[in-house]
Amino acid sequence: MIRIAILASGSGSNAENIVNYFKGNDAVAIPLIISNKKDAYVHERAKKLNIESVTFSKNDFETTSLVLDRMKENDIDFIVLAGFLLKVPENILRAYPDKIINIHPALLPKHGGKGMYGDNVHKAVVEAGDKESGITIHYVNENYDEGAIVFQAKCPVDKDDTYEDVAKKVHALEYTHFPIVIDKILFNK
Ligand code: GAR
Repeated sequence: MIRIAILASGSGSNAENIVNYFKGNDAVAIPLIISNKKDAYVHERAKKLNIESVTFSKNDFETTSLVLDRMKENDIDFIVLAGFLLKVPENILRAYPDKIINIHPALLPKHGGKGMYGDNVHKAVVEAGDKESGITIHYVNENYDEGAIVFQAKCPVDKDDTYEDVAKKVHALEYTHFPIVIDKILFNK
């Protein structure tokens, strides 16, 4: 059995979608959701899904081993970032080499880096006049949005699209592809 921890800072709609995808799969468990925001809606979703969710401060992440300790206590094998704002600290990267993936709501290497999160990304896409956007799923390393890319999918950005329109299209791609890509990575499919 592969045990996954999901890290999320916001609404958690991807986290919920991933949990639902693996429901009933005896080879995968998702026992833990970790956030850096105690008010994030992902905690409500976790409650509904019957999954433990915990909050650690930025300081806990950056200067202590509390987060890694909690992952070890839960026998976590693999980590999924689903809308997670902070950089993954060195101690976790070292403990989970090639076992941490992130989803970015644009076609990296465009529109990545510090501060490029959620709607900021979609606003940047519209402001740049891009004709397409999409999702990038990639391994996580010490730099924001720079690890090896595993998967990309595209959607068109129409002339009159607002950033909300782009967000909707990108979310749809996330819900369709992210769980399947995780499944493929876990089981070398
Ligand atoms: C998702 O669109 C995800 O791609 C993005 O945050 C959103 C979280 O939504 N991640 C990033 O921007 C990472 N740089 P959710 O909380 O509803 O899953």
